[in-house]
Amino acid sequence: MCFPDTFEGRTYFKQLPHIRLLHRENSELVGQLGLDFRVIRVGDEVFRMLGIIDLCVVPKLRHQQRASAMLDKAATIAQQARADFQILFVDNPVLYEKNGYKLIEPAQLSWFAIEDRKSHGIIGRKMEGLLMVRSEDNRSFPAGKIDLLGYLF
Ligand SMILES: CC(C)(COP(=O)(O)OP(=O)(O)OC[C@H]1O[C@@H](n2cnc3c(N)ncnc32)[C@H](O)[C@@H]1OP(=O)(O)O)[C@@H](O)C(=O)NCCC(=O)NCCS
Repeated sequence: MCFPDTFEGRTYFKQLPHIRLLHRENSELVGQLGLDFRVIRVGDEVFRMLGIIDLCVVPKLRHQQRASAMLDKAATIAQQARADFQILFVDNPVLYEKNGYKLIEPAQLSWFAIEDRKSHGIIGRKMEGLLMVRSEDNRSFPAGKIDLLGYLF
């Protein structure tokens, strides 16, 4: 319902998440957020990341802070999992800026491409306005080339 043009009947976009937060009201499922645990490399350093994927809320209940509540819960899980940063890729940064995420730009990235559940090799690209991170201890995201060591979250 929430991703009519991209999910094509799947319950996930690129890959199954490790965990899903399910937002229910009166036993009806009204939102979800996928969590993907990963280490990535930035320059010569390796960081523990919690990737946020597949966030959505049913249309009739949007604009009532449900997505923000799920992002808060994800932040708690990130702390418990000792993640250095939460990471996500956006079309529109507004919701995430309101929830403490910062754009990293420009970002020089490499990742493992998956399209239509097929592997397509490694892609390297400079990105602007797409990569956002949040840190619970206000640490700055380091400069350097970013190797996602997996698919694009
Ligand atoms: C994006 C989405 C999850 C927001 O859910 P929500 O429960 O309405 O979010 P919240 O109430 O916590 O925050 C709403 C704020 O986020 C921002 N926002 C609204 N739609 C947005 C969007 N598509 N992308 C980014 N930010 C958005 C606005 O600033 C909004 O403030 P407003 O309510 O004053 O207009 C929901 O619109 C949705 O499911 N969209 C379709 C799926 C999708 O695009 N998911 C994001 C994948 S990156």
